[in-house]
Amino acid sequence: MPADRRVIGSEHVERASRRGRRHIEVLPGTIVTAEARDSAARLRIALRAGPLDRPAVPVPDGTAALVRGLYRRGAKWMPPARPEGRNPVRFDRLAVVGAGGVGANVAHLAANAGMADEVVVVDIVPGLAESLAVDLAHASGLTRSRSRVTGGTGLGLVAGADVAVVTAGRPRAPGMDRADLLEANRRTVRSVAESIRTASPGAVVLVVSNPLDEMTVEMLRATEFPRERVLGMAGTLDSARFREALARTAGVEVDEVEAMVLGSHGAEMVPVVSRARIRGAPLERHLRRAQIDACVERTVAAGARVVALRKTGSATLAPAHAVVEVLEHLRGARAGAVPVSVRLDGEFGIEGVVLGVPCRLGPRGLIEIEEIPLAQAERSALSRAAAAIRSRIDGAERPVGAS
Ligand code: LAC
Repeated sequence: MPADRRVIGSEHVERASRRGRRHIEVLPGTIVTAEARDSAARLRIALRAGPLDRPAVPVPDGTAALVRGLYRRGAKWMPPARPEGRNPVRFDRLAVVGAGGVGANVAHLAANAGMADEVVVVDIVPGLAESLAVDLAHASGLTRSRSRVTGGTGLGLVAGADVAVVTAGRPRAPGMDRADLLEANRRTVRSVAESIRTASPGAVVLVVSNPLDEMTVEMLRATEFPRERVLGMAGTLDSARFREALARTAGVEVDEVEAMVLGSHGAEMVPVVSRARIRGAPLERHLRRAQIDACVERTVAAGARVVALRKTGSATLAPAHAVVEVLEHLRGARAGAVPVSVRLDGEFGIEGVVLGVPCRLGPRGLIEIEEIPLAQAERSALSRAAAAIRSRIDGAERPVGAS
């Protein structure tokens, strides 16, 4: 027997429990005392036969090392900082079409972040966009925002926008599916698209109106912009909801969870379980299968849950934050890929349909789609989502948009 053979005693288990650990790795040859087994059972710490797969080691940052040194603690997982872009641009003119709950909050957050010289809000309801602009101008006395906010009813106001965020359209009522809005919102999106096409031919368009994937297709067709400049915001919101569900279920902070949702913004959403991580480790290390399934279900039903509670419309705050996240990627303030709906031209084996996939973005829109490896079941779910969207779109046999 080697002299350095490790012994795990109850004291070791208790120390692990105090540090919030949920399992102890038992390497081959390690002796676990009977007391340690009793303590592990009492403290609900799993004794796992090792060696276990190691999560990727986060790049150490100076602060973490200092904190560890000062408090003489063992290595602990620290959430990595969000990757930031090097030279973010400031938009000259950011247009927000629709001053409802999402549009108003996008204007508010974007103005506060100072991401544009001018934020222009358009809404057909007389006085709505103007009042929002005046209200935000008053707020700037406190927020010190340097973004000028203007508002009006004419779609011509989108002229010269670098980016146009389109939130116009009817929201869902309780019991309604996003797809139930297809006919009503298609007309709205088409007329907005025509104005953008003539007034702002160089703009990047970010569609938010529902049903999201179908409305992004409408926007592509009606503007005839290249796919790089017609994006849909959904996966960013769905990913936020998935992360929140996982964090809450695992009892960890949201910044300790990495997770992405791809596919459609509806029943065919694809939460990517295979690549999700909690404290850098696969979900199965922290959650039981049934808990993971419940998080997936909660994510898919998240929007409907808000609609059922609110009764007069859908979520506004989380979608607005998700739009701002995409805007931050577009202006280069955030690095890495973000899930965005875009027309696929063969990526993930899918052709001619708009679907949420991880995208790298820049001020001119899509830079590239990141074809991340997926589990077989997830790839099939993406294909099913594509087929469902295709079947909902009238005349979808012809390829969508023109590059
Ligand atoms: C939601 C709506 C806005 O998911 O689609 O909340």
